[in-house]
Amino acid sequence: MSQTFARLRSLCPTVSVGTLTADLMDLGSELARLERADVGLVHIDVMDGCFCPMLTVGPWYVERLRTPLLKDVHLMVREPLDSLERYAGAGADIITVHVEAAVHIHRVLQHVGMLENVNRPGEGVVRGLALNPGTPLERLEPLLEEVDLVTLLAIDPGWGGQTFAPATLERVARTREIVSAADRQILVCVDGGVTKRNIGDIARAGADLAVTGSAVFDGTDAEANARFVKAAMHEGLAR
Ligand code: DX5
Ligand code: ZN
Repeated sequence: MSQTFARLRSLCPTVSVGTLTADLMDLGSELARLERADVGLVHIDVMDGCFCPMLTVGPWYVERLRTPLLKDVHLMVREPLDSLERYAGAGADIITVHVEAAVHIHRVLQHVGMLENVNRPGEGVVRGLALNPGTPLERLEPLLEEVDLVTLLAIDPGWGGQTFAPATLERVARTREIVSAADRQILVCVDGGVTKRNIGDIARAGADLAVTGSAVFDGTDAEANARFVKAAMHEGLAR
């Protein structure tokens, strides 16, 4: 187990906040709002225009986000093996790859497990595995040895602000059962369509972590929103 994983585990339950809908003309201030809300993580959605329809950012963006928040890099990228070193070199603390995106996903996860954490030398990088809503959870079972964090997407990747697939709650509960077969802790995360209304349900279903983008950066007070969703994960509160 990497020390970065222990660090992540100590932050949970919490939220990892995506910046797709943040004010990119004032990104430093937006990150400072997350730091003050003490959420602990910033979520960076990397889309390659191939695995999913949109194109977003790459390693240079990851590197230039100067923040003490853990950098949670979600690679919605086809065959990510060759780009893993670049994201680790850019300061990723967590690298999540998609089970649907690589022919040899086991090798990809093993490689993430060998990466150096440049922010915290010697601590390693957390190995995340993401599943789209249409992917059977059985795909996880043969990979558990190489996974620290399972991310269940509640939407198909590509856009922020989509509607949460209700079946995700049941998938969280089932994933908890599957990961309990491992002889160490594996964290469960939900990404996509997370709102102030449904985040309490997500927490109660058993998620350790929720990714929220447009629920925090919605044009109102992002710091207050971030505090609210973090507290909701803690308390399982619905509103
Ligand atoms: C979807 C991304 C998500 C998403 C989150 O492709 O992986 O992280 O942008 O944004 P909201 O919270 O707006 O659904
Ligand atoms: Zn994401």
